[in-house]
Amino acid sequence: MENMTKRLFSLLLAFVFITMGAYLLILKRSGDNKDAISDRKDANSVPSHNTVLPLNGFWSNETEKKTAVTTLPVLPECPEEPPELVGPLLVEFNFMVNLDDLSKEYKDTLQDGGRYKPPDCKSKHKVAVIISFRNRYEHLKYWLHYLHPILMRQQLDYGVFVINQDGEGIFNRAKLLNAGYVEALKVDDYECFVFSDVDLVPLDDRNLYRCFDNPRHLAVGMDKFNFGLPYRNFFGGVSSFSKNQYMKINGFSNTFWGWGGEDDDVYNRIISKGMSLSRPNMVIGKYRMIKHKHDLHNEPNPVNAGKLSKTRITMDSDGMNTLKYTVKKIEKNVLYTFITVDIEAPIK
Ligand code: BGC
Repeated sequence: MENMTKRLFSLLLAFVFITMGAYLLILKRSGDNKDAISDRKDANSVPSHNTVLPLNGFWSNETEKKTAVTTLPVLPECPEEPPELVGPLLVEFNFMVNLDDLSKEYKDTLQDGGRYKPPDCKSKHKVAVIISFRNRYEHLKYWLHYLHPILMRQQLDYGVFVINQDGEGIFNRAKLLNAGYVEALKVDDYECFVFSDVDLVPLDDRNLYRCFDNPRHLAVGMDKFNFGLPYRNFFGGVSSFSKNQYMKINGFSNTFWGWGGEDDDVYNRIISKGMSLSRPNMVIGKYRMIKHKHDLHNEPNPVNAGKLSKTRITMDSDGMNTLKYTVKKIEKNVLYTFITVDIEAPIK
């Protein structure tokens, strides 16, 4: 009888343990399921195009979930060779450009201040295009009319900065370009700088407004020089520098007042820092220049040529590290950013 009672007691104990085990298992399963459901809710609460749910609807681990939720749509890199380029271009200056019409045309394509990014790929070239300027609005209109579509076809991430010399003092192209470099970097982290005269339009969109392994001279074949170089070391008109290349030469000189010589001085800087020139070929590198008279207060300065034999000595203490100017006004519109600067120009 005693044995019988013992057996019954053991059976009862076993039953109680099994029931408790089963109950605990059911509890755990339902907890897991709740977590999984709330995971799905988190994922769905971010915009659906940002999130791809795994096929089974559950993230396999925490990292996978976080990565998927925080990843924005990634554009593919733009191809090395822009596919929309057309090659040789017809460029004429015998019609009127209306800036209002041009602004309307680009109001949905350009960001304020004449900035652009390709819509369907990520550009490898973040370029500030810098134009030295004073009183040449007619030329600027043609430049904008022709260059915006070219730069877009080149799939650049770019901005156009017009650096306007304040007052009637002697013009200084090089100092304006140095100021443009500084001002563009306040707007975005540009890595490449194209310096252009306002009256030069390329005749081929394969002449890429980007940076290369060495400083680039783009305007190698101007019509006014019969589509060739006027001399071997010519570096005038349009050029490009990476940030490193530009800082290596301490930028342009600030002391070339009036017309002439600052581009030759920059050539000397490049060579004396052990770099060479990059250039497009003479077919791609053709340019048309808008005809004009010499500007007022930008007379050829005979002093400038004499300075060229001393570039090596002066370049480290005349340039970006000694640049002084004051910004008077910044105006932005659809087509460009217009920055008026006082560069402490002497009056003739
Ligand atoms: C001047 C340069 C100019 C070139 C072509 C040279 O004599 O020093 O500044 O770009 O002529 O006009």
